[in-house]
Order: sequence, then structure tokens, then C-alpha cells
Amino acid sequence: MLEYALTCTEQPVPAQRRLIDATAALGQVSEMQVVHGQAVFLTVLTAAIGARTVIEIGTFTGDSALAFARGLAPGGVVDTYNVTDEWSQIASRAWREAGVTDLIRQHIGNAADLLDELPQESFVNIAFIDADKVGYITYWEQLVPRMVDNGLILADNVLYYGDAVSPEAEGNAAAIRAFNEHVMADDRVQPTMLPLADGLTIARKLPRPN
Ligand SMILES: C[S@@+](CC[C@H](N)C(=O)[O-])C[C@H]1O[C@@H](n2cnc3c(N)ncnc32)[C@H](O)[C@@H]1O
Repeated sequence: MLEYALTCTEQPVPAQRRLIDATAALGQVSEMQVVHGQAVFLTVLTAAIGARTVIEIGTFTGDSALAFARGLAPGGVVDTYNVTDEWSQIASRAWREAGVTDLIRQHIGNAADLLDELPQESFVNIAFIDADKVGYITYWEQLVPRMVDNGLILADNVLYYGDAVSPEAEGNAAAIRAFNEHVMADDRVQPTMLPLADGLTIARKLPRPN
């Protein structure tokens, strides 16, 4: 079924195709990459809301950052954070090939430390959490106040291979389950979870009452 859905999805542009192949060549770690249908979804969403400010936690080889960049409104920028530069060369090459180098700024370091340095104001249109699972609640709390009204916070792997469904979940699955409960208890947002790939939460920052 998933394969059929992919035949009904925009096919990778050449730079994405090469990036998918280069990432697959890394071996099992390639599982971290967003699936292509998800990448197209991120581009569509970014363009549909006219996003100019995107923050991404978890760059890896750069596929989702590239997807956001493809949907940015004129003058927009993607700030992407990763704890290591291990895969930065692969990402940079793909961004260059896709002609989006000037639209993406990569920051290397622990995302929680770097996010603390961002302005304490609402300026983010889309945020994407896709890094260490135990950090999700921290990133969420750093990002929600910085979202514009009706801005979208996305979080990947919120089903954690189905393991997050169980109250007996352990390790990363338990961290994701705690994150999902945290989101559901947050009255600043309107969340919905899509069973897309490994589960994708999309939460709209509710406008503040006047
Ligand atoms: C699932 S991958 C991201 C996949 C990427 N969004 C893509 O589409 O290819 C998770 C990434 O988070 C990074 N990461 C893990 N812990 C982090 C931290 N504390 N701060 C920043 N990045 C971190 C990892 O190095 C890894 O590249």
C-alpha cells in the first residue's frame, strides 16, 4: 500500500534522488531519514502557509531541511540544528545541487543549548522536532513560546515503530509516549497525529486571547 501511495506522490527531484541514494549507502543509519512522501508533505505544508521562518531539530543528511527549503516563501530561511557535523558534507552537497544553499543555515551543537539563545519572541512559522527522543519535551517547551499564532510544530516518530502505543513502553518509546501526553495536555496548541511513516504530530499554536 505504501509503495502505491509513493507512486501517487511527486517523485524526487535529481538532488533528492542522489541524497536518498547517498544516505542509503551509509547503511542502517539511513533509517533516520524522513521517507520521501513525508518530505513532499513538508514542502507542501511550508508553501501552503507561506512559511518564511523554519526551525528544524535534527538535520542528519539534510533531506527534510531540503524539503522545507523547497517550500519557503521568498526571503525565507531554514535554521537546522544537529549535534554533530558527521553528515554535513552530504547535506551541503545536496543543498548545493538543489540550489537552496542560501536558504539553509546549519548550526552544530546540542540543540537545547542553541535554542536557548534564540530571541524570546514569536517568530517561527514551522518547527520540526526530529532528533533525540528524550529531548522532545525540552524542544517543545523551547519552541511553543517562539511560534507565531497559527504556526505549526511538527514532531516525527511519534508512534516509535508502534511501541509508543503500549503503556509498558520503555526507553525511547516511553520518552515518545511521555511527549505525546505532554502535547495533549498543552492548551496552547491544537494537535493532530497523522499515521504517516512512523507517526507525525502537527500542532497549531493557538492565537492568544486579546
Ligand atoms: C532522525 S535524524 C534526523 C533526520 C532528518 N530530519 C532527515 O530528514 O534526514 C536525528 C538527528 O538528530 C541529531 N541529534 C541527536 N541528538 C541531538 C541533539 N541533542 N541536538 C541536536 N541534534 C541531535 C542526530 O545527530 C541525527 O542527525
